[in-house]
Amino acid sequence: MRYFLFALVVACGGSKTASEEPKADHGQGLVAFETVRSVLQHPRCQNCHPAGDAPLQGDDSHVHQQNVQRGPEGRGMVGMECTTCHGAANPSAKYGEHIPPGNADGWHMPKPEEKLVFVGKSSTELCEQMKDPKRNGGKDLAALRTHLDSPLVVWGWNPGFGRAPVPVSRDVFVAEWETWARAGTPCP
Ligand code: HEC
Ligand code: HEC
Repeated sequence: MRYFLFALVVACGGSKTASEEPKADHGQGLVAFETVRSVLQHPRCQNCHPAGDAPLQGDDSHVHQQNVQRGPEGRGMVGMECTTCHGAANPSAKYGEHIPPGNADGWHMPKPEEKLVFVGKSSTELCEQMKDPKRNGGKDLAALRTHLDSPLVVWGWNPGFGRAPVPVSRDVFVAEWETWARAGTPCP
């Protein structure tokens, strides 16, 4: 019987819609958000989501060297664009540590009018901001979920030689995000 049910679930898996997903309760949602928060505020993520106008570097999130600034589009100042140093992929490990990482999306940080600050926010503030379209770049929950698959985010699990990836696995991060969403995005 158990095997039969399993086969049935697998057979129907492709057409399952969000509304058929099991609901998560408030408490599960809060626990799940704590894992999500720990990822958002990990250096690999928050270094591009600072409170000021300079990106950050390293596990101690120090201010980016060479006076790099956000610039009018989040792509740096003229002559100091992010892509001057950051290429379309992480350079090979043979170059060693402290080499600028790269990304298929064109390395950049959020625009000045939508800074999407993660650094220094309490769990409550981060949670409220995350789900507020006025402060998250106009994204509804579906758009936010899609964004989690974008190269800039996925990079956090493949950050280039000598840099520690986000310690929570990407699968767990996405699963916890979805639990939080199914619980109705509760905030601590
Ligand atoms: C290289 C810089 C960079 C890194 C690294 C980065 N982000 Fe972002 N992030 C951005 C930019 C830029 C945006 C704004 C949307 C865009 O332009 O793609 C953004 C937007 C977001 C958003 C949607 C807006 C919001 O605040 O709700 C989420 C969620 C997000 N990032 C999560 C992450 C996570 C999780 C990581 C680490 C695994 C990460 N980011 C690492 C640059 C970065
Ligand atoms: C003059 C070259 C240069 C420019 C311009 C530049 N970077 Fe960097 N960046 C680097 C180097 C080199 C590193 C690696 C530092 C290290 O690993 O110690 C780096 C690392 C980073 C990191 C750290 C990744 C991590 O988690 O430790 C982020 C984030 C970053 N840069 C964002 C930006 C953004 C955003 C821009 C444009 C606004 C930019 N950089 C422009 C040279 C540059």
